[in-house]
Amino acid sequence: MIRHFLRDDDLTPAEQSAVLDLAARMKADRFGHQPLAGPRSVAVLFDKQSLRTRFSFDVGIAELGGHPLVVDTQVTHFGRGETLADAGRVLSRYVAAIVLRTHGDDRIAEVATHATVPVVNALTDTYHPCQLLADLLTVRERFGATAGRTLAYVGDAANNMAHSYLLGGATAGMRVRIAGPVGFQPDPEVVARAEKIAAGTGGSVRVVTDPVDAVRGADVVATDTWTSMGQEADGLDRTTPFLPYQVNDALLGHAAADVIVLHCLPAHRGEEITDEVLDGPHSAVFDQAENRLHAQKALLTFLLEASTP
Ligand code: CP
Ligand code: NVA
Repeated sequence: MIRHFLRDDDLTPAEQSAVLDLAARMKADRFGHQPLAGPRSVAVLFDKQSLRTRFSFDVGIAELGGHPLVVDTQVTHFGRGETLADAGRVLSRYVAAIVLRTHGDDRIAEVATHATVPVVNALTDTYHPCQLLADLLTVRERFGATAGRTLAYVGDAANNMAHSYLLGGATAGMRVRIAGPVGFQPDPEVVARAEKIAAGTGGSVRVVTDPVDAVRGADVVATDTWTSMGQEADGLDRTTPFLPYQVNDALLGHAAADVIVLHCLPAHRGEEITDEVLDGPHSAVFDQAENRLHAQKALLTFLLEASTP
């Protein structure tokens, strides 16, 4: 069986916890784990731009003793000159795993269906599960555990980060609150799935429109861009409806005294988050960015160990 990581809930709560444990160990002993020695190669493919994901996978695969092949798909036949199914089949003959950042989830699902090696979602229009692992690792570092902590995500509640907070946060036993304006609310199917997961982990899920309602007493406040990649010309007003959701000192004043602030980055300073908050004492965003590296090293190690060719 091949284990893919396309959505946050592709890891059970116990598996997610084990990956985070391993990530912490790998962070503490950064060059002491070489499961890709050989070297085994990993393809890291981008249909969209990236800084953190590109570098953290490239560096992480090398640190695991492997050979990273980081490629922008525009210079390949991927998904254009040949089908995604054929590309998945062919790449599986060369590499130990395929990491893909792309648009629709149907695209990564098609690759995973035909690949014979693990496929990892490095961001799609609907999910960003590798980011969530880094975020959860950061929460663990700051609070000791994720279970029972309250996470409030405010802003574009219809985007990939909102959906991953729902699924990944519920899997981690967190109390997940999502606040976004009318018209920018999460997919009800994802909310329902998160509620079901939360029922088994002791977490909870609440979707609201009032940002203060979401942030009140929260341990973690998270936000993301109001305009995700690919939405630049979607014709929607992506500023005015979001103004009350800006993470600033006033909004943060409603959170717990020791709140931490997360942002997957890149940040649009002065839009979804102010300089004061991003650079302030509650911000954990640069630990969060670093943790992409450790979390993804652990994830790749787990998926390769758990898969039988
Ligand atoms: N957070 C994140 O995925 O950043 P990049 O788009 O730079 O990879
Ligand atoms: N929601 C953002 C995340 C970027 C890392 C996007 O999809 O562009």
